[in-house]
Amino acid sequence: MTLAIMGAMPEEIAPILKKLGTYKTTNYAGNKYYEATYKGMNLVLAYSKIGKVFSTLTAATLCEHFGAEKLLFSGVAGAISPKLKVGDLIVATQLTQHDLDITAFGHPFGYVPEGSVFVDADKEMIALSKIVAQEMGKPLQEGIIATGDQFVANEERKSWIGETFGADALEMEGGSVAVVCDALNVPFFILRAISDAADMDASFSFDEFLETSAVESAEFVMKMVDKLAKK
Ligand code: ADE
Repeated sequence: MTLAIMGAMPEEIAPILKKLGTYKTTNYAGNKYYEATYKGMNLVLAYSKIGKVFSTLTAATLCEHFGAEKLLFSGVAGAISPKLKVGDLIVATQLTQHDLDITAFGHPFGYVPEGSVFVDADKEMIALSKIVAQEMGKPLQEGIIATGDQFVANEERKSWIGETFGADALEMEGGSVAVVCDALNVPFFILRAISDAADMDASFSFDEFLETSAVESAEFVMKMVDKLAKK
């Protein structure tokens, strides 16, 4: 089994690389890909760089070039739901693109013909994550994650995304990774730890908590990998 672990920023995959210790590095299409064997599985890791375009390229490369059979994303997000505080974990049940807008043609936000507003994440891995959360004694919330090419630091925009899509958290890659994996039939799992509340203090909170929240998410994803190795 080849498993991909993806992040957007170096901080999001550094804790996992540190745990693996040794790995092979390959440069491909402007990114570094890290390959290792772990508990009888082939792992391939990468950070995409921020945003939908870079994350699309990386997710497609992980699946098509490196042969990923499952993809797990680890990273940070801005909270929409007031129930989510800095450091809390959220697993995406569905992903959407909040900045996709052809409403001028009568379509809903997040929709283009032959696409869909929401893409479902893999139910098996979501179920597994609940077991992992219980074993780790960590609260895990689940919900809709909205993705866009915007760092949201604005109450009004955040509320609009929450109301329009029923989203609980927002970030800049999950929705595009979801579209790629769905199209290629690669089961995917998107986990995020909250770094900020997508409000006027978001950039300060993000800078302060990126590293610690990224570690929270990475540790959880590695426990998921351990579980997947035993299957
Ligand atoms: N990732 C973490 N916080 C974010 C925010 N406020 N907006 C977009 N992506 C994020």
